[in-house]
Amino acid sequence: MTDSTKPAATLTLAGSNKSLSLPMLDASIGPTVLDIRKLYDTLGVFTYDPGFGATASCESKITYIDGDAGVLLYRGYPIEQLAEHSDFLEICYLLLNGDLPNATQRDEFNRGVMRHTMLHEQIRRFWDGFRRDAHPMAVMCGVVGAMAAFYHDSVDITNEEHRRIAAFRLIAKVPTIAAWAYKYSIGQPFIYPRNDLGYAENFLYMMQAVPCEDYKLSPVLAKAMDRLFILHADHEQNASTSTVRLAGSTGANPFACIAAGIAALWGPAHGGANEAVLKMLAEIGNKKNIPEFIRKVKDKNSSVRLMGFGHRVYKNYDPRAKIMQKTCHEVLNELGIKNEPLLDLAVELERIALEDEYFVQRRLYPNVDFYSGIILKAMGIPTPMFTVLFAVARTVGWVSQWKEMIEDPSQRLGRPRQIYTGPTQRDYVPVGKRA
Ligand code: ACO
Repeated sequence: MTDSTKPAATLTLAGSNKSLSLPMLDASIGPTVLDIRKLYDTLGVFTYDPGFGATASCESKITYIDGDAGVLLYRGYPIEQLAEHSDFLEICYLLLNGDLPNATQRDEFNRGVMRHTMLHEQIRRFWDGFRRDAHPMAVMCGVVGAMAAFYHDSVDITNEEHRRIAAFRLIAKVPTIAAWAYKYSIGQPFIYPRNDLGYAENFLYMMQAVPCEDYKLSPVLAKAMDRLFILHADHEQNASTSTVRLAGSTGANPFACIAAGIAALWGPAHGGANEAVLKMLAEIGNKKNIPEFIRKVKDKNSSVRLMGFGHRVYKNYDPRAKIMQKTCHEVLNELGIKNEPLLDLAVELERIALEDEYFVQRRLYPNVDFYSGIILKAMGIPTPMFTVLFAVARTVGWVSQWKEMIEDPSQRLGRPRQIYTGPTQRDYVPVGKRA
């Protein structure tokens, strides 16, 4: 990473004669990074960067985003090409192993993952402890974390084979857990996985089939779900991935780390956004109400945000949103939905926002979640399951990033510092003597 021929930056503290040479670390693409690891030891100061907007927390070879240009690459391949030509299991191989598989490697990998789709039968009993109206993300956090209690032969993080099997188990079993979380909420029997189906197809089968009827799925809808999984598979050091890495840096087992990632994904600023987009569209209700809604979004005294818009990294159109918009039309067409009021509303909302100075100035564009909710709703997926689907897709990204971190010799326990602004040292006062 370090290029010794490059001049380093020099940092001199004002009012002090101390200075530090900061080596520049070269990325293969993207901004150069200043290495501040010696900062505290040499100058006795920390850096301040809440939200980590200017801090690289790790070295990674998995995913690259150019937020200004609206570019997303998995292992160097543009997301547009992968969404068009690849499938989700091939993306899993790519993210985990670094390259696309040849035909033999692909078949072996697919078989390897798909034979882990069943859950230990005792895990099934967990559901009896959940309320029927539990949010499926609560079930996901609980059951994925509990996998560590069952699969003891894949929790030794120092053992490469354990890591490989844990990765397979997580990728293969999260769709089963997700589908069962849904089945439980509607009181239908659990449907066991079918390993002869594709990954997305099997997931939809477990969600939608019932034992008393034949189940037929349109290939267009299976493809749409597979594409949605591809688009959500990884996104470099976002909040949930950073959570997984931080938990993993302590040496915690992979099931616990991924459960931590699921918890971080749950929030409306992250994975909960597509659920929030649908709620927002329902609240707006009609195109004529858009100007009033936009007025509220722009009002500094209101906390209303245009959900599905804006991104910490993309200051241009999120490339995933473009693919989502196209997929949205394909799905509605396949389902024979000629007129979807929510889609009309979303398109109009996007048009108005993209012309509005407030959004233009702040470089706020639609993100991946703006259209995904409409697709999922049309496919009959209930709103509380939206974030769950995101978790299913992102599991491979989390696992790949976790594995990369464990295999990185420079990885250390994650431990941010702070700027303390609380009281200075003071003496304890017995309760009777306090004012
Ligand atoms: N609606 C209205 N204003 C917004 C929005 C929005 N969606 N997003 C950002 N802004 C405004 C902020 O109010 C702020 O304005 P100011 O400079 O006048 O104070 C400015 O744009 C910068 O916003 P920040 O919150 O500082 O940007 P940040 O990078 O922290 O936020 C985030 C990114 C959380 C995604 C934000 O854009 C947001 O809340 N969007 C809506 C939720 C959403 O769609 N999340 C999904 C993200 S994609 C994903 O996780 C898959």
